[in-house]
Amino acid sequence: MKLAIFGGEPVRKKAFPIFMTYLQETDEKKFIELLKTRRFSSKHGKKTKEYEELLRSFFDVKYAKATSSGVAALMVALESIKSSEIITSPLTHSTPNAIVNVNKKVIFSDVSGLEDPFLDPKKTRNILSKKNKNKAILPVHLFYPSERIVEFTKIKEEFEIPLIEDISQVVGNKVHGKLVGTFGDISCFSTYEGKILSTGEGGAIITDNTEYARKIEVITNYGEVRGNTVIKGYNFRISEFQALLGILHLERMEEIIKYRKNTGRKIRNIFKKYSNQFIVPKQCTRFAVHLLPIYLKVKPSLKNFIIKALNMEGIPIQPWYIPYHLHPLFSSSWQNKRFPEAEEIHKRVVLLPLNMYIGEQELNDLDEALFKVSTFLEEEVN
Ligand SMILES: Cc1ncc(COP(=O)(O)O)c(C=O)c1O
Repeated sequence: MKLAIFGGEPVRKKAFPIFMTYLQETDEKKFIELLKTRRFSSKHGKKTKEYEELLRSFFDVKYAKATSSGVAALMVALESIKSSEIITSPLTHSTPNAIVNVNKKVIFSDVSGLEDPFLDPKKTRNILSKKNKNKAILPVHLFYPSERIVEFTKIKEEFEIPLIEDISQVVGNKVHGKLVGTFGDISCFSTYEGKILSTGEGGAIITDNTEYARKIEVITNYGEVRGNTVIKGYNFRISEFQALLGILHLERMEEIIKYRKNTGRKIRNIFKKYSNQFIVPKQCTRFAVHLLPIYLKVKPSLKNFIIKALNMEGIPIQPWYIPYHLHPLFSSSWQNKRFPEAEEIHKRVVLLPLNMYIGEQELNDLDEALFKVSTFLEEEVN
């Protein structure tokens, strides 16, 4: 049972797929029909309007806008609020970029810990003051939704500041029976390939606030009102093809959520057999996840070896991004600040992208590869 990393036979010759957009064979006809219309811009076609209407009714909000990416959605949302200082988590993907792109100040605050990699409400509260209304809070639901969003709705009321949710990784999940993304004043998400709701590339903004909605509409239309540029604006439109993908996914959200929850449950059960080395949080079975976090119980210095060993067996485990306060763009202002929980999560976590094409064969292969790597760790490393 030699590991593939040491020249043994891999469990799979070809790694199982990551980041594949879910489609059914009958969908192909719909793309051909769209091709025939020769109308692919959302300015001229009907699909984007239909998709936005479906998004609006899915979240049961007054307004939904499809954008070309998650970062674009965040930038527009941030432009639409007055606040100039934005509190967010260093543990995310690209949320801080959106803040600096619109010339606002990033304020990092730590997350709660391994079980809840979401902004810690207590630490966030300590940054706020009732006198300073310049701040807004932008928590990121990382890996799975956090029930702590409820505490942030209270903080928002108390300090009278906007709350923007980044729900890129958790679209379609509910906490306390309410869809994530409907707690904040505005919510943004990415619909990048592999996300729970995917349009290949893309994003969206939702809000129930008509004032923000009006601003978002102008900002995404080059800042124009009746042909006059009144504010800084963008073109972040999606194409009709992306909208069609979004429509197809939204129509199947129930099936997608169920499949991801079931698969998360099966994967957690497999990892339980190797609990000396790995922990999969129980939230991965309660919620539909798009990236399944796995915490290493072994020394963090083994992380790169474990990733490589599993990759060589055909299992596409990945590292998570470096916390943003350590990125060159941010480190000059944040180099003396420590965010111990975010740093600990980064040291310990590896990710398994979960998609609709992970079936019984892939799960058996995962089990076999984990058995090989875990046996090696038990026998050779401990
Ligand atoms: C939490 C989070 N926020 C924002 C983004 C950015 O989305 P996009 O890549 O579509 O710009 C991502 C995408 O991976 C994400 O995971």
